[in-house]
Amino acid sequence: MSQLTLTAAPAAIAALLLMAQAASAEVPSTQRQYLLERAGDRYQLALKTVPIPALGANDVLLKVRAVSLNRRDVYALTPSPRGDASGQGIVSDGAGEVVAVGSAVTRFKVGDRVVGTFDSVWIDGASSGYLPRNGMLAEYAISPETTLLPIPAYLSFEEAATLPCAAVTAWNTLFKAAQVKPGDYVLLEGTGGVSIFGLQLAVAAGAKPIITSSSDDKLRRARELGAVGTVNYRTVPEWQHEVLKLTGNKGVQHVLEVGGKDTLPRAIASLAPGGHIGLIGGLSEGGFVRERPEERLKERNARLSNIYVGSRTDFEQMNAYFEQHKIKTIIDKVYDYEAAPAAFEQMQSGAFFGKIVIRVGK
Ligand SMILES: NC(=O)c1ccc[n+]([C@@H]2O[C@H](COP(=O)([O-])OP(=O)(O)OC[C@H]3O[C@@H](n4cnc5c(N)ncnc54)[C@H](OP(=O)(O)O)[C@@H]3O)[C@@H](O)[C@H]2O)c1
Repeated sequence: MSQLTLTAAPAAIAALLLMAQAASAEVPSTQRQYLLERAGDRYQLALKTVPIPALGANDVLLKVRAVSLNRRDVYALTPSPRGDASGQGIVSDGAGEVVAVGSAVTRFKVGDRVVGTFDSVWIDGASSGYLPRNGMLAEYAISPETTLLPIPAYLSFEEAATLPCAAVTAWNTLFKAAQVKPGDYVLLEGTGGVSIFGLQLAVAAGAKPIITSSSDDKLRRARELGAVGTVNYRTVPEWQHEVLKLTGNKGVQHVLEVGGKDTLPRAIASLAPGGHIGLIGGLSEGGFVRERPEERLKERNARLSNIYVGSRTDFEQMNAYFEQHKIKTIIDKVYDYEAAPAAFEQMQSGAFFGKIVIRVGK
């Protein structure tokens, strides 16, 4: 008996060893992750070797293949009174390949291509607060299986990584907080991530996008994507009059309000009676809107919704719409992992159109 086992053993042991080597090659015990490091009155990105934590029963381990930047990732480099963020991971939006699954995982298997939700817990219904995912700018990331989605087959990892925050936010504003219809005018402010997804979704819905920008060249690119009207907010600071003219003085039905305090009054002035404003961001110098201008909204019988990205269900519905219309992300530039700090600098500068992506690994 022992003789038999001994004879059979070399092949079996060799096979087991091979499997063990494959597993350890795929999932090392450490990884290189970007962490925030205090540098004077800012944080900088420091690439550190850190352990990969153990996988919980409901968790999935991803080999991250791409991440995309959102404005909040740039905001994260400025220290906040909420506390010291030194040593924390950064970036919410990422896509990758499943390389290991916990014992209770049922939705995914090794080899699946997945993208994470922006919020770290929000699955459906109302959100339970602002709980963004962080730490996707890493070679590996652990996520509960509940906050991952399969990547639509026609999208690459780079394209999928752009969707969780900017695209879902634009989707929610146009299709959930309001119901965009063919022929509606949709006003987009600037040519960043949320606005360009808003433009693409408006075009797919048969609506008529009007977009503002500080750059005539970017406005030309927006027209190529289907914008029916464009205004340069630098050279035409009171751009609301131009927007009204572009709609035959009827006004727009929808606004994706990403500018904040300085743009909201102009957005309201651009509205058609009964129009809808999705209050999203605070890109303008005045920053985020703190008080709702109820009187001015009433004058136009307008509606304003506070938008917070969206749930996993929203993301799933949006993916189905993207798939149906084969919407492709407009990516300005893809950086290598080692060049991540340069990607943040480009984001900070505003010299981009659409999304900035960092590829992780080869
Ligand atoms: N509520 C939410 O759930 C949610 C979700 C996503 C984002 N946000 C917020 O929404 C905003 C947009 O995010 P994002 O990631 O799309 O930003 P982004 O990609 O960084 O957008 C940058 C672009 O915004 C434009 N911009 C800057 N100042 C402007 C102004 N005064 N008026 C009009 N456009 C201006 C510029 O476009 P041009 O170069 O063309 O001038 C700039 O290139 C941010 O404040 C972000 O924090 C909120």
